[in-house]
Amino acid sequence: MSVSRSVRLRVAVLASGRGSNLQAVIDTIEAGQVPAQIVCVISNKRDAVALERARKHGLKDLFVDPRPFAGRPDSREAYDHALLEILQQYEVELVLLAGYMKIVTAVLVNAYANRMMNIHPSLLPSFPGLDVQKKAIDWGCKLAGCTVHFVTEGVDEGPIIIQAAVPILDDDTPETLAARILVQEHKIYPRAVQLFAEGRLQVDGRRVLIDAPKPDGEAIISPS
Ligand code: GAR
Repeated sequence: MSVSRSVRLRVAVLASGRGSNLQAVIDTIEAGQVPAQIVCVISNKRDAVALERARKHGLKDLFVDPRPFAGRPDSREAYDHALLEILQQYEVELVLLAGYMKIVTAVLVNAYANRMMNIHPSLLPSFPGLDVQKKAIDWGCKLAGCTVHFVTEGVDEGPIIIQAAVPILDDDTPETLAARILVQEHKIYPRAVQLFAEGRLQVDGRRVLIDAPKPDGEAIISPS
């Protein structure tokens, strides 16, 4: 029995697809590099590979079907209320969006302000949204990359925690560029979780300071 187990940060991962970022976080936690535990993996897609990955590692996997909420004017908020109940039930302290292809509403954003992260495959604030590798190539950018940021109501707009850059090569396609970026995603997302779990992130307006001296008070983002 490990004494540190009970103090590990309780993390939930929301994912819609293949879950390679989920896998990267699982791997670093299992390697003992991050003082955290994934208490549930939730998907809006029944057949998400991310759920299979969770099961394979003995993690709780949950499919939350959006269909019963469809058609009502507040369908997104109602869905997020259902998610919030689950997150509260599992006493989740940090939420990771990892290829979660559903817009989160104020219901979740406010409940997890500065405690919900997203990973996005561009150097924000350039290229929020979809198809961003193609957009970076088409624009003629020389650098692309990825960003881990806290989630706010604006899509891909929240305070930036970590970024990594990669070159855009003359013969890149969106696929080759995405693959090069993904390698970096798998490094910076676990790193961001580690920094959070160690209480080393501080939000100052739009800026996220790492290892800043701790002032008294609530600006410190800490799991405890
Ligand atoms: C990742 O490239 C992630 O950055 C991107 O979806 C992919 C999910 O891959 N997220 C977004 O575009 C969000 N705006 P994964 O399921 O293998 O982690």
